[in-house]
Amino acid sequence: MKKILVTGGAGFLGSHLCKKLLNEGHEVIAVDNFYTGNKDNILGLLENPRFELMRHDITFPLYLEVNEIYNLACPASPIHYQHDPVQTTKTSVHGAINMLGLSKRTNAKILQASTSEVYGDPTAHPQKEDYWGNVNPIGIRSCYDEGKRCAETLFFDYWRQHQVRIKVARIFNTYGPHMHPKDGRVVSNFIVQAIKGESLTIYGDGTQTRSFCYVDDLIDGLVKLMNSNDDITGPINLGNPNEFSMLELANLAIELTGSKSDILFRSLPEDDPKQRQPDIDLAKKVLNWVPKVELRDGLKQTIEYFKKVIN
Ligand SMILES: NC(=O)c1ccc[n+]([C@@H]2O[C@H](COP(=O)([O-])OP(=O)(O)OC[C@H]3O[C@@H](n4cnc5c(N)ncnc54)[C@H](O)[C@@H]3O)[C@@H](O)[C@H]2O)c1
Repeated sequence: MKKILVTGGAGFLGSHLCKKLLNEGHEVIAVDNFYTGNKDNILGLLENPRFELMRHDITFPLYLEVNEIYNLACPASPIHYQHDPVQTTKTSVHGAINMLGLSKRTNAKILQASTSEVYGDPTAHPQKEDYWGNVNPIGIRSCYDEGKRCAETLFFDYWRQHQVRIKVARIFNTYGPHMHPKDGRVVSNFIVQAIKGESLTIYGDGTQTRSFCYVDDLIDGLVKLMNSNDDITGPINLGNPNEFSMLELANLAIELTGSKSDILFRSLPEDDPKQRQPDIDLAKKVLNWVPKVELRDGLKQTIEYFKKVIN
């Protein structure tokens, strides 16, 4: 049994990760400041004697004895991370320094939840881990993109300078139950709009594509990466390479909810990437990981969840 810290443990991904680690028999400490997270996400876990919830902001130091740290704390959707951009950068950068410091003191392995946003608006397609990205340093998304890039830098410097055992996962669009219904991301937007019978809003002409990974697949990848040999540091892309256009996704959301909603087109926001798709050859090779859940099946689970929380 390991003692595992999950920062952002009350968030979308964090809550699923805590559940999986508890199911594997570990002791789990979830740390969260509830900026975007929600106790409802972990209600089912609070009774478990191996689970502990701590209200704490990772921009401040934390002293604990743990064997592993999953650093997930950070608002992930543009609406949330742009609400207080200075805090977003602080969470990524000061948070990484604090968690890496904890890892250095306790010799805990540490995994960073990085993001495909480090590739910015990519000029290479699909994105491999050795692509350095095309990121605007001063735009409205930069607090998130550059914060995450700087966190990656810190992880690799702690590894080179202090031999901290690091793992960096670059996570691509993930969806599933416990997503925030008002996070403004495309999957939650479409499902909520379809359930409510409102028009589905597409930004741009709907031909821009995204890949969507179901949460169970993603969590499986994170745990595999953490459990891999120490020489596997990443960065490693984790995501589902199957691409869907916004128009296809909107039509699927309408079909699976049985909605009568129509589709509305609006202008594209600043710095919105036209296309994004992970190259997951590295994850396949070194982690023996591939996403298994089809979009249609994952959407059905997500729709069930949203039907419960928005009614
Ligand atoms: N969901 C995705 O598609 C996706 C894609 C790429 C990367 N990621 C990364 O995965 C991680 C989790 O994302 P998510 O989708 O679960 O987002 P989320 O917003 O649901 O979860 C983030 C959690 O971190 C907490 N948090 C934020 N700032 C904090 C701070 N300073 N101290 C302590 N807790 C803090 C929030 O309250 C929340 O519970 C994030 O780091 C995100 O950047 C997610």
